[in-house]
Amino acid sequence: MPPILQRLQQATKMMSRRKILLLVLGCSTLSLLIHQGAQLSWYPRLFPLSCPPLQDSPPRPKHMTVAFLKTHKTAGTTVQNILFRFAERHNLTVALPHPRCEHQFCYPRNFSAHFVHPATRPPHVLASHLRFDRAELEGLMPPGTVYVTILREPAAMFESLFTYYNQYCPAFRRVPNASLEAFCAPQGY
Ligand SMILES: *[C@@H]1O[C@H](CO)[C@@H](O)[C@H](O)[C@H]1NC(C)=O
Ligand SMILES: *[C@@H]1O[C@H](CO)[C@@H](O)[C@H](O)[C@H]1NC(C)=O
Ligand SMILES: *[C@@H]1O[C@H](CO)[C@@H](O)[C@H](O)[C@H]1NC(C)=O
Repeated sequence: MPPILQRLQQATKMMSRRKILLLVLGCSTLSLLIHQGAQLSWYPRLFPLSCPPLQDSPPRPKHMTVAFLKTHKTAGTTVQNILFRFAERHNLTVALPHPRCEHQFCYPRNFSAHFVHPATRPPHVLASHLRFDRAELEGLMPPGTVYVTILREPAAMFESLFTYYNQYCPAFRRVPNASLEAFCAPQGY
């Protein structure tokens, strides 16, 4: 075969390959658009033409039960608030401490299911301070509960604890000028 014909044949092959590729690409893009449009309805969100319909109830999340081990000075109150709002939104029961435990689950005693107010049992959400006891929590919370906590870098957390509790904790109250430097001084104070 003359080289010019060979080159022509190659060019035709490349063209048809390119065409097939383009066709496949076009089809998958179209199917993706139709699919996504139906599933996630991003189109009306991107181009809102009218007000979205009001939802009777919010979409059901994957997990509805959560036990949050709230620790001190780790942004736990922020997360607790988020969880309380989540519970309110989804009409969930929140475990609240028994009045004799005050606002924490009788901290620093090891957690017991008896520390939970009977009117808030069985709970879906638990997010107040407690000292972790796995068996007691597992007995209280429904199966499939998600357990969450927050860990903070220890030195930063201690600094925060020291400032927060310096008039409360006896060991900190003794420190002159509530000074962390004085507390940490190797010669003592
Ligand atoms: C919320 O939950 C309570 C108790 O679980 C139930 O009696 C009440 O009907 C629920 N309300 C809504 C709006 O779902
Ligand atoms: C509290 O829990 C810790 C850790 O499980 C355990 O070592 C300790 O003995 C418990 N204290 C009491 C009073 O039960
Ligand atoms: C406490 O503060 C006072 C006034 O700022 C200062 O004179 C004193 O040296 C401080 N004492 C210590 C132990 O840091």
